[in-house]
Order: sequence, then C-alpha cells, then structure tokens
Amino acid sequence: MFQPVGPIILAIESSCDETSAALIRNGKVLNNIIASQAVHHKYGGVVPELASRAHQRNIVAVVDESLTAANISMKDVDAIAFTRGPGLMGSLLVGVSFAKGLSVALNKPLIEVNHMQAHVLSHFIDDPKPTFPFLCLTISGGHTQIILVNDYLDMEVIGETQDDAVGEAFDKAAKIMGLPYPGGPLIDKYAQSGNEKAFTFSKTVMPDLDFSFSGIKTSILYFIRDAKKENPAFVDTYLHDLCASIQRHLVGMLMEKLIMASQKTGIREIAIAGGVSANSGLRKTLLAEAANRNWNVFIPAFEYCTDNAGMIAMAAHYKFLRSQFSGLDVTPLARMAL
Ligand code: KG4
Ligand code: ZN
Repeated sequence: MFQPVGPIILAIESSCDETSAALIRNGKVLNNIIASQAVHHKYGGVVPELASRAHQRNIVAVVDESLTAANISMKDVDAIAFTRGPGLMGSLLVGVSFAKGLSVALNKPLIEVNHMQAHVLSHFIDDPKPTFPFLCLTISGGHTQIILVNDYLDMEVIGETQDDAVGEAFDKAAKIMGLPYPGGPLIDKYAQSGNEKAFTFSKTVMPDLDFSFSGIKTSILYFIRDAKKENPAFVDTYLHDLCASIQRHLVGMLMEKLIMASQKTGIREIAIAGGVSANSGLRKTLLAEAANRNWNVFIPAFEYCTDNAGMIAMAAHYKFLRSQFSGLDVTPLARMAL
C-alpha cells in the first residue's frame, strides 16, 4: 500500500543563548541538536552581542549535525522553519537570515514560528499529549504566561507577568546569593536539602491571573543584605535553606494563579512549558495538586523544556499542514504576541 511520507522540515532556533537545529518528518521529531553558549556564565547573564556572535559560529555546525544524524540531505527538506520572535534581536537575526539563505538556495518555503507558541507545542512531540482545550503555564527566563490553548495554532494569553519573568526571579535571587548564571537550576539543586520554611519574603499580590516578581526580588535582596550585616557568612551557612525558601515562594506564586485559572475556566488539562518547568519543586507541587484536584498534568521531557529547535519543528509541522508560509521579506520581532 502507498504510504505517504509527510513533510520534512528543518527548524532553527536562535532566540536567546541556545543555537539549535532539528528535523521533523511527518510530525515526528527526528533529532534536536542544541549548542549552549557557555560564554555568558562569567558575566552573570546573557550578553546580547556575544549571543549573536556565538549563534553565527554555531549555526552551520548544528544544522549539519541534525542532517547527518537523520541521514537526510538538504535537497530532501520540504521547508525551512525558524523562530521569528520573541527574543533578542541580534540573536533572532542570525536564525532568520540563515533560514532565508537556505530558502533561496534550495527554493523551499519558509515557516516563521512564534517561540512562545512553540514552547506550548513541545507537548505534542512525545506522548502523552494533552487534549484541547488545555491550560499551559509557560515559564522561562523571559516569560511567565498562562495560556488558554484552544487548538494547535489558536492560543490566548489569559494571565502574564507585569514585570520580571519567574526565571529571571530565580536567576536574580541566585545572583544575590553569589551563585553563577543561570542560577535557577542551582537553586533547585540546593533546595532539595534545605528547609523551605526557614525564611519568609514579602511579595506583590496581583489581581486576576497576572503575576509580579519584582517585589519578591527586592524583598530577597534586602533580607540578605541585612542578614549579612549581622553575619557575613550568612549565605554560605544557610544556602540550602535560602534556596528552598525562595523556591517555595516562587512555586507558590505560580501555583496560586494556575489553580485560579483552572477554577475560572473549568479546565483540568494542565501543562507546563519553558525552562522553569524543569524545576523539581514545581513538578512535585504540581503533581500533588493534580492528585487533589483531579487534573491531567503534562510536563515535557527535559530536553524540550529549555530552548530547543524540536519545539520549533513541531509548530512548523502544524503550520505546514495549513500552508502558513512566510515571504522572503519576513523580519525578526523582539516582541511578538501569540
Ligand atoms: O526557556 P528557557 O531555556 O529560555 C528562555 O526562553 O528564557 O528558560 C531559561 C530559564 C532560566 O531563567 C533558568 O534559570 C530557568 O529557566 N531554569 C530553572 C531550572 N532550569 C532552568 N529555574 C528553576 N529551576 C530549574 N530547574
Ligand atoms: Zn524559551
């Protein structure tokens, strides 16, 4: 029997500090190659100019590796997908320009992908997959949103941060404690052997489904500054308790709004996405709430939590099926609504 072979799409992600390429065939992600940029660690955050240059150095190698690993040649690719935004302009420009170059050289269509939409669609890479409509808490270094997902390409932001993103709050709290960038995973690690009730910080209460993380960041800053005046070794002595307490607060702020969103919409299909969804404290709390509230919870595999081209490929697949292609005049967007 004739078996139709679905589209093969090469996807490129370069919105922040990971240069990534992936191939998808007929809706199945074949590989997901990621080059992380260590260059930023010593600066305590992503340096946009260095990120852009590192993308330029890495992009050919990650694309080559993806094609070689899948044993697919460039001429077999049916479309080229790329992250259009949101992200750092200099970083996005590298991916957009590279994708356009390939599109012209191969005479294959271009597919632009919204990075935040792709984080949500990372749930369709592996099983189990959520059913529509579902809620997705998308949490990263740049975003904190609750998204109502009606269909693959039909999503609505129903709550979001009015200042810092939760990943930024993790990273800034870590920086205050003298931990290297990115501090989120380190807070997670040390929290596992700390007392989460040891310290209390104040936070800004936001109306409805919105978030604010700048208040708690300032509270952590002043609390540690004052404690160090009394005891210069305060952070070293209480590092694990500090991390556990900070994590309890940040996870609590996320969960409070997620529960509210579920109650408001009546939706009990709950997904999380983005770098912070790797947090073990959040995963534990979410699973406990799920058991209490009869939620179906969806957490992507670790490699699809942080920035990756696999999720860009997944989003591109659905756009290809709907013939949603871009012209060669497409430009990157540092800010891009869903
Ligand atoms: O999605 P992502 O890779 O990049 C952005 O689009 O921002 O998210 C990166 C963010 C960083 O703030 C990092 O500290 C945070 O995700 N992160 C974590 C953990 N793993 C990554 N935060 C808390 N706990 C973790 N285990
Ligand atoms: Zn991201």
